[in-house]
Amino acid sequence: MASEHIIEEKKQGQALITENLEGNGKKLFIESYGCQMNLNDSEIVASILAGEGFNTTTLLEEADLVLVNTCSIREKAEQTVRKRLQQYNRVKKINPSMKIGVMGCMAERLKTKFLEEEKMVDLVVGPDAYRDLPNLVKEIEDGKDAINVILSKEETYGDVTPVRLNSNGVSAFISITRGCDNMCTFCVVPFTRGRERSRDPKSIVNEAIQLWEEGYKEITLLGQNVDSYLWYGGGLKKDFEKASEIARSTAVDFAGLMEMVALAVPKMRIRFATSNPQDMSLDVLHTMAKYDNICKYIHLPVQTGSTRMLERMNRQHTREEYMELIDNIRRIIPDCAISQDMIAGFCGETEEDHQDTLSLMEYVKYDFGFMFAYSERPGTPAAKRMEDDVPLEVKKRRLAEIIQLQQKHGMYRMKQFVGKTVEILIEGNSKKSDQHWMGRNTQNAVAVFPKGDEKVGDLVQVKIEDCTSATLIGTRIRK
Ligand code: SAH
Ligand code: F3S
Repeated sequence: MASEHIIEEKKQGQALITENLEGNGKKLFIESYGCQMNLNDSEIVASILAGEGFNTTTLLEEADLVLVNTCSIREKAEQTVRKRLQQYNRVKKINPSMKIGVMGCMAERLKTKFLEEEKMVDLVVGPDAYRDLPNLVKEIEDGKDAINVILSKEETYGDVTPVRLNSNGVSAFISITRGCDNMCTFCVVPFTRGRERSRDPKSIVNEAIQLWEEGYKEITLLGQNVDSYLWYGGGLKKDFEKASEIARSTAVDFAGLMEMVALAVPKMRIRFATSNPQDMSLDVLHTMAKYDNICKYIHLPVQTGSTRMLERMNRQHTREEYMELIDNIRRIIPDCAISQDMIAGFCGETEEDHQDTLSLMEYVKYDFGFMFAYSERPGTPAAKRMEDDVPLEVKKRRLAEIIQLQQKHGMYRMKQFVGKTVEILIEGNSKKSDQHWMGRNTQNAVAVFPKGDEKVGDLVQVKIEDCTSATLIGTRIRK
């Protein structure tokens, strides 16, 4: 996202308002909530609508079309979007020709409800229907409501070159898979983004090369579950077994894809998100170790440290299997940073389960973490079959304990860099001072240091002298 990092991703409710100054037609105001995938989807939509003469604006008041890319992951994310829609509608009272559309996961989840009950929007478009936007926009321009929420078996937008919105010119996203087949019982994503399918590796490699030629220095390969990537000529992942012998024997998996990208753009930093423990192979770890340009950082959500809870969440691995994966990461990529997602207070969670989460955290000592109280989502297997029985105060207390422990571990990890010299890719000014640069090391730790003659996009050596729990502080070293 703004800078394509998971840390920013999780700041719920913080929207990215994006602008693309090229073109001179109708004006599109597009705003994204939720995950990195949504930000990349907004870039795809901006590209599709650029073909219809739309250029983007950051001024809501002058927009002909307002699109909000929405997130359904927790109830709070949906509430934030509803509030925003009310604000758009207030502006629409002053500018009645303005049209308002919702896209993304809430569009898919609520479908016609937006048009029928809420009357807050003119257009509803789900994550697989963005190619239909030119038609949908014509319909609303003719004064009709428009909706397309059909989920697809093939759509990957592989041939659409995203319009890079609000970019720092250094980091960019490349989507490699869409949808998710994992059916974690708490999660709404399989319902809003449909079945899993992978994008043609050739189009991924070409996009990476093009970005390098445009001056980008870092790409993040995106998917709900990147380790599940599998290209065998197109179609759903679950139909792989039905494919021809030749298609199956020449298939490209995630390790293969990463190698292709690492070789095609050997100086580009490569990141990826998100990894699901059950699908992460040793091949992926060996590929990461083999190529210097693949960043040594894995976002590896676990949600809970209790095998009993993992089972109820349908996570397909035990606590011990996860620990074994952590051991393998430490063995194969000793300097690898690891981050987590945790859910506090899932259905039936006991104090003992919670203690298992804390002790797993002690075992891993995660570099970063993104932690949430369980929020029941309508239509999910958990909502249908399980009772949301952990009282809110208990969820909050457990969450606070998890966050506190994570802060301790974050500090522990950051301190490991003090006294060392690390390579930093400069992304821009430090938030606190324009006399300092901000960038990240391969482990995704943020560093700041005083400016010299460097520029954004430079890779520099920085000696780390101090740290907070979130930031490394240093000075540039010239070799
Ligand atoms: N594979 C995805 C996961 C998407 S959801 C990815 O790319 O990150 C991101 C995180 O939100 C999950 O890992 C989980 O920790 C959290 N989450 C999902 N559903 C949730 C729910 N119902 N309540 C609370 N947190 C949830
Ligand atoms: Fe959700 Fe689990 Fe997929 S968390 S996105 S169903 S891997």
